[in-house]
Amino acid sequence: MLGIFDSGFGGLTVLREIHRRLPHLSTLYLGDNARAPYGDRSQEEIFQFALEGLSFLFAQGCPLVIFACNTASAHALRRIQQTILPIRFPDRRVLGVTRPTVEYLAGSDRAHHLGIFATQATVDSRSYELELHKLLAKNSVMLTQVACPGLTNLIEAGKEETEETAQLVKHFVSDMLTQDPHVQRVLLACTHYPLIKHLFGKSLPKGVDVLTQGEVVAQKLETYLERHPEMMGRLNQNGMRKYCTTSSAGISQLATRFYGSEINFEQVNIHG
Ligand code: DGL
Repeated sequence: MLGIFDSGFGGLTVLREIHRRLPHLSTLYLGDNARAPYGDRSQEEIFQFALEGLSFLFAQGCPLVIFACNTASAHALRRIQQTILPIRFPDRRVLGVTRPTVEYLAGSDRAHHLGIFATQATVDSRSYELELHKLLAKNSVMLTQVACPGLTNLIEAGKEETEETAQLVKHFVSDMLTQDPHVQRVLLACTHYPLIKHLFGKSLPKGVDVLTQGEVVAQKLETYLERHPEMMGRLNQNGMRKYCTTSSAGISQLATRFYGSEINFEQVNIHG
């Protein structure tokens, strides 16, 4: 089984695209909804929570896990890959969303003026800036990052269609445009934000391209599995799909909006 982890429902926007591209792959989704959002938490908390989520997914038999969460990818992925996997789980792998997104940005029709909307923790980590500059010369892209505190809370609370959310997005977009009035492309670098992509689109000037990550991550996963047939061989391909949350079990209308069709959650305890 492929494991997918997010602080809450955001990772479902990635999972949906993985299912579209690799429909036979068995998947186990875990949302740590009880402790979402992660975006305003400390680096240490994000690391500990992500490690607990990962350990749960490994214990369920996932040889490969994707952090479908920018915040966890920025603050936990590298440390887990370097210090935890080699000692505790030498035959397991974990991948994030930052690197595949940056590879896509560096390889696609490049925008000289790039904007990123993300959680406070993702912006503070400077992970996008550092990864982009590994692949592109510093002066080839002007990067502006705007942190969007409060946005994930509203989305997780099912308030994505409210005036409050629309006003908050307007405020973040105006912050972006003040810093770079010539922005050509923006990346929604939080897996929750695709649900309000239309609000970003409405507030940005016409012609600004709004990029989300689901399709990019799914496509890079497919390429990864082609390059690692031994990992592909360890993943079940009978199309089983299971959804777990640290919050309440049942069918969530909100999760259904994120995923696009009805899903049923099982409540699990991942801490302690
Ligand atoms: N969806 C996550 C991300 O991509 C986390 C948002 C949050 O928990 O604050 O960053």
